[in-house]
Amino acid sequence: MTTYSRLSTSRTATARAGSNIAFIKYWGVSDPILNLPLSNSISMTLADAYTTTSVDWDSRGNLATDEITVDGKRMAGKSAERVVRHLDRMRTLADQDFRARVVSLNNFPMASGIASSASGFAALTVAGCAALRLDLSPEQLSALARQGSGSASRSIFGGFVEWEKGRDSATSVARQIQPPDHWALFDIVAVVSAAEKPVSSESGHLLAATSPFSAARIDALDMGLTEVRSAIATCDFERLGRVIERDALAMHAVMMTSVPNLIYWQPGTLEIIHAVRRWREQERIPVYFTIDAGPNVHLICESAFRVAVTDRVRALKCVEQIIVSKPGPGPQRMDTHLF
Ligand code: DP6
Repeated sequence: MTTYSRLSTSRTATARAGSNIAFIKYWGVSDPILNLPLSNSISMTLADAYTTTSVDWDSRGNLATDEITVDGKRMAGKSAERVVRHLDRMRTLADQDFRARVVSLNNFPMASGIASSASGFAALTVAGCAALRLDLSPEQLSALARQGSGSASRSIFGGFVEWEKGRDSATSVARQIQPPDHWALFDIVAVVSAAEKPVSSESGHLLAATSPFSAARIDALDMGLTEVRSAIATCDFERLGRVIERDALAMHAVMMTSVPNLIYWQPGTLEIIHAVRRWREQERIPVYFTIDAGPNVHLICESAFRVAVTDRVRALKCVEQIIVSKPGPGPQRMDTHLF
């Protein structure tokens, strides 16, 4: 495990964190301020889709406001405010009022169907706290990252991770259930549209409770969580695959029946779902899908089938782009900064 507290005289730090793909999804909050979820969720942290973030706290008072740059663009409006609120949480913990310069780079396109908020808020939390010399445990970092973005709580750990819904802010934290080298699973993301999604996850979580199916999904989830935990422990791919598809469809049923309803799918989404079934049934290729809050489809397979799946995805006309990732480590501190 990386040591996050390092003695240093500067107030600058850089961290890299992987995004993650959820096998049992987080959809809906019981507390929207603290981002307390309606259920536990389980994910795999990604090695090949990550965010690198440098934070420099201005102890000399040169900055009038926080300055946030992501992928070369100065952030403004709602997305900047969300980052500033997270910087505020760190300022409160450190009892400081320094403004910050934040520079962040994703190694994947932000609208690719990979959660940049998960890797982004995890990297921001680790870099920001290190630069403030806040000596937090991984669980405390997870609780803090969660308040920036729910799924970021899981990106504080590498490999296979479960986020416990908890009772309050201190107990709603993630933990590693298996390290990254436990199972060579691949996430092959078939991007059918890189356009920005019409409704953010942040707004979607608030709508979940308006669907009559949300409570039913949550009630049945203990069984799914148990299945996924033991499928991961025993590397039982078929068992994992069956449950992750069912939960992705259940979450989208909740989205589609919310008021107002959320239909994230595009025609290409359904085309890929049917293709996955065809490859499985007619060609005996073990591959299953999951879908987050967007139209893009994550295909999960074991390493032996990665090339077969990637080749087939590439041949589909509706796919604009493919991103492939294996399980990855938790956040890493870096010695070079992005400034
Ligand atoms: C569908 O973590 O993006 O990807 O907490 O508002 O940042 P905020 O939402 P976010 O929601 C993720 C939703 C999901 C499922 C999941 O990753 O568990």
